Amino acid sequence: MIIEPRMRGFICLTAHPKGCEQNVINQINYVKSKGPIDGPKKVLVIGASTGFGLASRITSAFGSDAATVGVFFEKPPAPGKTASPGWYNSAAFENQALKAGLYAKSINGDAFSDEVKQKTLDLIEKDLGQIDLVIYSLASPKRMHPKTGVLHSSVLKPIGEDIFTNKTVDFHTGVVSEISIVPANEEEIENTIAVMGGEDWEMWMDALKSRGLLATGAKTVAYSYIGPSVTEAVYRKGTIGRAKDHLEATAFTINDKLKDIDGRAFVSVNKALVTQASSAIPVIPLYISLLYKVMKEKGIHEGCIEQMERLFTERLYTGHEPKTDEQGRIRIDDWEMRSDVQDKVFTLWAEATDETLPLIGDLPGYKKDFLNLFGFDMAGVDYQKEVDEMVEIPGLV
Ligand code: NAD
Ligand code: NA
Repeated sequence: MIIEPRMRGFICLTAHPKGCEQNVINQINYVKSKGPIDGPKKVLVIGASTGFGLASRITSAFGSDAATVGVFFEKPPAPGKTASPGWYNSAAFENQALKAGLYAKSINGDAFSDEVKQKTLDLIEKDLGQIDLVIYSLASPKRMHPKTGVLHSSVLKPIGEDIFTNKTVDFHTGVVSEISIVPANEEEIENTIAVMGGEDWEMWMDALKSRGLLATGAKTVAYSYIGPSVTEAVYRKGTIGRAKDHLEATAFTINDKLKDIDGRAFVSVNKALVTQASSAIPVIPLYISLLYKVMKEKGIHEGCIEQMERLFTERLYTGHEPKTDEQGRIRIDDWEMRSDVQDKVFTLWAEATDETLPLIGDLPGYKKDFLNLFGFDMAGVDYQKEVDEMVEIPGLV
């Protein structure tokens, strides 16, 4: 079929298999161009099909020749209906890994469930024995709790008395408007922590350790975000921020539990980037479009793959303990948070309107990245050509 983007709100309902493949190949080529990494050899990536998780998997496999197991939750294709992009990304990744002689298997299902954990652990035990790196990169709006059966939904709201009001942009139309968000109640805060906090990460690590599947010196890393003052009320000091506080605290708990095997648990604070997860957060797209403009002008812009390659080579696998901030977090958002970058973005923020944004912001860059997530607007792909939507993931278990 001929596949075109079909937009609905923050999401695109279609995905292009060839474009997703090209996106994965570009990331692989980037990692290879940076040379070999003396990194992990057997890696589990939870949330492996898009964004930071996919980039972590690519960096492990093509930087460090690692065998990888990927867990994700993606929609398979049906005749006449495309799969979700993470499906096509994973198919492309596995085909490239196979060609390179690298072990790669995947599990498509709900990572929060006992069933998917069990299946993943059985696979690791059978095929790999022990793993030396676990990446935790889930971004989900909901979590069915495996013990209570309660379905928790997260919200993106401020906390406290005050209604949050600030600017936001519809990145499809370029229209800048004010949005107001009413603060969350206690239950919404708890639910958001249940979805995006650290409980599930700890469950994964407990399960892996109790079955003896973690190698001596194994590391685990989960991803967090801090960001600027303009998004603070709705992000870091809002409901999602509470969940990130919980995730970051969980790193210390897991770290203690891994002491006897010399294991380490880290949180890495990553840069703001266009992903399916971040496009849905109010205010963030306007911030990202200004940030991209400033960072590109300064020659320090990075995408997910550049971030993860730098995380591995300059933080995690340097031969010595990674430098962390006063809260024990690895910071790979260091360039985003540079004061010259933040000061500039802050000034532009005040100036941003429908009229000024095309000049002061990088909306075309935002839109392109957004389309690229779904395999559209990729250089080198012929979108007039018929493609088969029924792509299989070779190592799906
Ligand atoms: P993403 O939407 O690109 O990736 C989410 C991944 O989780 C996908 O592989 C998806 O299949 C998987 N997933 C979702 N629900 C699942 C479930 N129930 N079971 C199994 N897999 C499931 O998101 P991302 O932006 O790469 O986010 C990953 C992490 O990085 C998150 O913790 C996020 O907060 C963090 N982070 C994101 C940004 C950003 O700007 N995008 C910045 C810093 C940190
Ligand atoms: Na991810």
